[in-house]
Amino acid sequence: TWRMDSFVEHSIEEIRKKVGNGKVLCALSGGVDSSVAAVMLSKAIGSQLTCVFVDHGLLRKDEGDEVEEVFGPNGPYELNFIRVNAQERYYTKLAGVTEPEAKRKIIGEEFIRVFEEEAKKIGAVDFLVQGTIYPDVVESGLGGESAVIKSHHNVGGLPDYVDFKEIIEPLRNLFKDEVRKAGLEMGIPEKLVFRQPFPGPGLGIRIIGEVTGEKVKIVQDADAIYREEVDKAAKEYEQQNGEAPAWMPNQYFAALTNMRSVGVMGDERTYDYAVALRAVNTIDFMTAEAAQIPFEVLQKVMSRIINEVKGVNRVFYDLTSKPPGTIEFE
Ligand code: XMP
Repeated sequence: TWRMDSFVEHSIEEIRKKVGNGKVLCALSGGVDSSVAAVMLSKAIGSQLTCVFVDHGLLRKDEGDEVEEVFGPNGPYELNFIRVNAQERYYTKLAGVTEPEAKRKIIGEEFIRVFEEEAKKIGAVDFLVQGTIYPDVVESGLGGESAVIKSHHNVGGLPDYVDFKEIIEPLRNLFKDEVRKAGLEMGIPEKLVFRQPFPGPGLGIRIIGEVTGEKVKIVQDADAIYREEVDKAAKEYEQQNGEAPAWMPNQYFAALTNMRSVGVMGDERTYDYAVALRAVNTIDFMTAEAAQIPFEVLQKVMSRIINEVKGVNRVFYDLTSKPPGTIEFE
């Protein structure tokens, strides 16, 4: 719409005025908000922008490479892109840790350490970008003038520890659907703009109990199959009916339970993990219902996971509403 192109144009102008020839640093997660913010900055100030993308080894299958394709040197945008492959570091820190909040804390703190190290290499920057959107501002109990100052402590969890002068939050007046519109307006691929939410701690909270590289691989492969089949079924439905199916989940993913059970494969007894499939319909993610994905789609997913993912011999579908359940498993 005209309002969105003028918003984008106006924001780009404002950023140019504010930044001048300063250096800008951005933590890029590959999520919608930080991606749209990064592209806006790139359009405004090009290679005065540096984006740091931390691959914590808890991303979905191929996600690190997908982010690099868009934002890396072979992608369409002008910026400095730094990918930090911190997988092994994270797995080492997480070894033996089973308590969900302890896992979250380690993952969050390690992110800060990694980002801090990269920021030190870059040296003093003038501005730090945050992909804060309006609901984040409201949720953190802010709003009004003081928000700009407080938000870098509360929202997004960054940074007293990075040497910068000022924060830039180009999306802080936008709701999520407006962020997506701005993204489309700037030509960001739909796949990225309509990405489903993915938690900061990533697969770390979709592996119940201890996280290991081996378990990450299992959940990545199962999750990729699940999303592929759900997307395919939804697309077919849409082609036939001209609209998305009512069951189309707002969030859907596979998780690895910490349970092993006996199964049989050929003539062999197996003793392997159970994967749980989660899919919810929700408006605000505060309450949710299990999505009524057609049974034959779930059966196909089950059969592919068991046949294609080594270490899994059982698949569950989670029927739990929120409340009393949560969307994630930890
Ligand atoms: P729950 O599990 O609380 O999830 O019903 C509600 C929504 O929040 C996301 N979520 C998180 N996002 N860090 C995040 O950035 C987290 O620690 C976290 N925990 C849950 C979840 O994916 C869902 O969209």
